[in-house]
Amino acid sequence: MKHFLDIHKTDPADLRAMIDSARAMKTARNDRPKGEADDEQPLAGRMVALIFEKPSTRTRVSFDVGVRQMGGQTMVLSGSEMQLGHGETIADTARVLSRYVDLIMIRTFEEATLLEMAEYADVPVINGLTNRTHPCQIMADVMTYEEHRGPIGGKKIVWSGDGNNVCASWIHAAGQFGFDLTFTGPETLDPEPVFVDFARKKGANIVIERDPAKAVQGADAIVTDTWVSMHDPQSARERRHNQLRPYQVNEQLMSLARPDALFMHCLPAHRDDEATSAVMDGPNSVIFDEAENRLHAQKAVLRWCLGV
Ligand code: CP
Repeated sequence: MKHFLDIHKTDPADLRAMIDSARAMKTARNDRPKGEADDEQPLAGRMVALIFEKPSTRTRVSFDVGVRQMGGQTMVLSGSEMQLGHGETIADTARVLSRYVDLIMIRTFEEATLLEMAEYADVPVINGLTNRTHPCQIMADVMTYEEHRGPIGGKKIVWSGDGNNVCASWIHAAGQFGFDLTFTGPETLDPEPVFVDFARKKGANIVIERDPAKAVQGADAIVTDTWVSMHDPQSARERRHNQLRPYQVNEQLMSLARPDALFMHCLPAHRDDEATSAVMDGPNSVIFDEAENRLHAQKAVLRWCLGV
């Protein structure tokens, strides 16, 4: 069973093969109208369940379109509308869904929910985001970096802001793809040590630097994300904004990185909070390519999971 649960749980050679496959599929699609099926139909006759316990624009649409382009069908389910939200166990839900569908993608709150789904499902399970990690996003992000700047191995990526779930998957990727990552943010919002330890054990240089101006020196890319994630209480909003304001990615901060440093953000963004509009819409921003590449990268993940 090939689940795609996290970057650090997936073999680096498989991760590399998925990025290469995603790029090949993107190239093949370049001249086709949006929404038209691919020449190859590897998911013909397959049904994919897309479960969302949290809101989504990119993940929902990109998985739906990606499956359809490859000849498959989808059903989009919200956790609250399923028995999942009314006391049926995750294990029983996994067993039942496995009788109907060929693959389950789930976006949920607790990582334990994802892991229980994967343990009891007889079909592959894909992590579409939990409170702890967001591996599909980082597959798209590595693909995007490499499209613009070539191999990511040996590069310096700087994460500025909250050490959240997207940051965690970037750190996993540093270990698996062989690049260095500097985290700059307040100590209370540091990434979990277990993520940092994984990447360091794999040989990545992971640096924690409180001063954002120092952190971005020599950066090949600066990455940030929203200051208040979906699972953070709104009561923490003001405190987080005060803590994170020094880590805003603005033109001044970008000017301290390499001149060709990319600006990256998984979106949705709160313009002029974590990043200014001047940076988001500036010449080094690749944020909409990241969004597009969710489609191509996830098509590669789906094919890898299903072995097609
Ligand atoms: N980046 C991302 O996962 O976007 P959505 O929350 O819109 O799916």
